[in-house]
Amino acid sequence: MTSLDTNRFAHRHLLDIARLGAGDINQLLDLAESYANLSRTPDKKQSILRGKTQINLFFENSTRTRTSFELAGKRLGADVINMSVGSSSVKKGETLIDTAMTLNAMHPDVLVIRHSDSGAPHLLSQKVDCAVINGGDGSHEHPTQALLDALTIRRRKGRLEGLTVAICGDIQHSRVARSNIALLNIMGARVRVVGPTTLVPSNANKLGAEVFYTMAEGLKDADIVMMLRLQTERMQGSFVPSIREYFKFFGLDKEKLKHAKPDALIMHPGPMNRGVEIDSEIADDLNISAISEQVEMGVAVRMACLDLLTREGK
Ligand code: NCD
Repeated sequence: MTSLDTNRFAHRHLLDIARLGAGDINQLLDLAESYANLSRTPDKKQSILRGKTQINLFFENSTRTRTSFELAGKRLGADVINMSVGSSSVKKGETLIDTAMTLNAMHPDVLVIRHSDSGAPHLLSQKVDCAVINGGDGSHEHPTQALLDALTIRRRKGRLEGLTVAICGDIQHSRVARSNIALLNIMGARVRVVGPTTLVPSNANKLGAEVFYTMAEGLKDADIVMMLRLQTERMQGSFVPSIREYFKFFGLDKEKLKHAKPDALIMHPGPMNRGVEIDSEIADDLNISAISEQVEMGVAVRMACLDLLTREGK
């Protein structure tokens, strides 16, 4: 089978959303939509990437993103290799370049990298001959997460333009928030960030988001409520008085959700901390929660990225 999309993609790497235009995003989402449909059929294995090698280079722990990239590559027929490298045992900078040179000598066609340093995928892309996909770098960007979120929203709401999206919680440490703010602005949605003053960066409005410090104001008439995990591993010092207090003011429950539109859609990139940023009753209600659809769309979006970035003649 040949690809479901025959147009060239304008970029060699997927390093961040900021570099993409609306046309690129639509091309990725349209192709991902067809892969999502294909993934629901019994015969979902393709051969578009047969003979191609994909290396997943994860310097940070990850279950869902790594599995999703692995499955996406395998579904397209690629040979997929996973390398997990504990970031604590790795010296930054030089070692990343050394690893890059070693991998490059093995002639991969695409490298997926997750790293705790912002900018690591960009550095890698300058050192290797193949396509590089950013699977999350520090608190900088997580472009495939924003793309899968956009696909989920588009399928449920029919569009992105004109929607009000409230991104809530630990914005400060969130690469998911940064990529989503960028993508939603490009696609004409209205973006809000909601959280305690300690967890909302002071430049959030410059990034293209309206800032709110209470859930009542931030969720008012929102179409989409996107909850984020408290990323304690990135916190140095104390950002919230206590988990109980955090849930009381910023955890999503039925009461706070009443401020949003009656048909508001709930999202969360995972992994979820139930009872910290979201109540189980809401997370598990399939009528309002799109959380498992986000996981499904993750595979489809990554298939589209792998397909478009490994085309011959790039
Ligand atoms: C996100 C990440 O790693 O940035 N998770 C993910 O990709 N599955 C969000 C998070 O860790 O909270």
